[in-house]
Amino acid sequence: MNFRCFKVFIAILLTFFSVSWVNAATKNEDRSFVLSSPFPSALETLQKQIGYTFKNIALLKRAMTHASFSEENNKALSILGGHVIESSVSLYSLEKDIDISAKDLNQVVLEISKVEASCTIDGMQLGLEKVVRVSPKTNSSAPIVVCSAFRAIFGAIALDTGKSDDAGNVFLKVHGRKVGRGFAM
Ligand SMILES: *[C@@H]1O[C@H](CO)[C@@H](O)[C@H](O)[C@H]1NC(C)=O
Repeated sequence: MNFRCFKVFIAILLTFFSVSWVNAATKNEDRSFVLSSPFPSALETLQKQIGYTFKNIALLKRAMTHASFSEENNKALSILGGHVIESSVSLYSLEKDIDISAKDLNQVVLEISKVEASCTIDGMQLGLEKVVRVSPKTNSSAPIVVCSAFRAIFGAIALDTGKSDDAGNVFLKVHGRKVGRGFAM
């Protein structure tokens, strides 16, 4: 009887150890996969650069995927991101000066929305042209590609937190670190 109990005990022990060993082995495999693949490690770096860590990394992946690469792309995210950027800049401008004229506010929003200016510069500073996935025929340095990827980041953050304010704050930090152009902060 005692011997049987002992055998059962050993069997349980062995099962437990082999399961945890397999788990550990699988985890190590995942880890080396993550570290050695350029796209996931670029996403890690990007999150550090913008000072925001995604709960759902799939959203950032999608933000860094151009329409030429996949149907699961950043087109819609970049529209949301564009609105996030415009509203955070409007909010910031009005907080700074409640008496700002409609003309001046429109100008500020217009500047921030220009593809050739603000978002391409911001996107290039983050090195998005090296991160965004495009088809072999697409030039990932083209302003429209960099810009839509840049905007999509903030659409993705808004979805990740469920709050466009959070995304706007991340934008102001990313854009604001080296402002002067675009709009005065
Ligand atoms: C890609 O686009 C950038 C920016 O417009 C341009 O400077 C570069 O020459 C283009 N590269 C190719 C291979 O077309």
